Amino acid sequence: MTIENEDELGRMKVIGRIVFETLMLMKRQMQIGMSTLELDKIGAENLDKYGARSAPMVMYDFPGYTCISINEEAAHGIPSERLIEAGDVVNIDVSAELDGYFGDTGGTFLVPPVDPKLQYLCQATRKALRSAMQVARAGARVNQIGAAITKSAKKSGFVTIRDLGSHGIGRSLHEEPHFIPNFYDKTDRRVLQEGQVITIEPFLSTGCEQTTTQADGWTLSTGAGNFSAQYEHTMVITQGKPMILTAL
Ligand code: CO
Ligand code: CO
Repeated sequence: MTIENEDELGRMKVIGRIVFETLMLMKRQMQIGMSTLELDKIGAENLDKYGARSAPMVMYDFPGYTCISINEEAAHGIPSERLIEAGDVVNIDVSAELDGYFGDTGGTFLVPPVDPKLQYLCQATRKALRSAMQVARAGARVNQIGAAITKSAKKSGFVTIRDLGSHGIGRSLHEEPHFIPNFYDKTDRRVLQEGQVITIEPFLSTGCEQTTTQADGWTLSTGAGNFSAQYEHTMVITQGKPMILTAL
């Protein structure tokens, strides 16, 4: 969506804060021996506290309130009886709707003992998000986001996942501009508009550039031995720095 007035901005800030608070709560409460279903329940209860509804559940009938993806899973992992183990790489993605407005945020968190290489992967992914945000301003080509992410990933020695990307958001979970790739597409002539609401969510990986859908029909996997990280914010495009909505 493109923000037209203060009321819309206010509503987007409310849902942005709710999803971010939920993500931070899940991050804090996550512990070894907990099932991803239990972790999902913590998120579900917090969304419910505000009357917010899980976006993947409402929009796509996703079998969970949040997406929880572990190790070789990159995204859309289904909350299950799987227990969180020492050394796991856990991605949590929280998106929700309130009063017809959507917010979307995510992050990758390491369960101790932390492997320094994976810590570096997480740092590199946060850095890629920051560099993409620096070029995401009104009048810039949408493809500058992918260009910045790829450049940043390469510098850190990682690859990007090509079939996952950022997206427009607002009155729906996924809307125009659809699929903003994690790579530079020179044929993409779309231009960012002032007031436009998008997510930026780089996916960096230790070696996988394309995910495969698992037998459950949802989980996107990078294959055994690969790890990936993602950090996602919902933001409003301005003439200057984007205004992050997924913040407290
Ligand atoms: Co998300
Ligand atoms: Co998203």
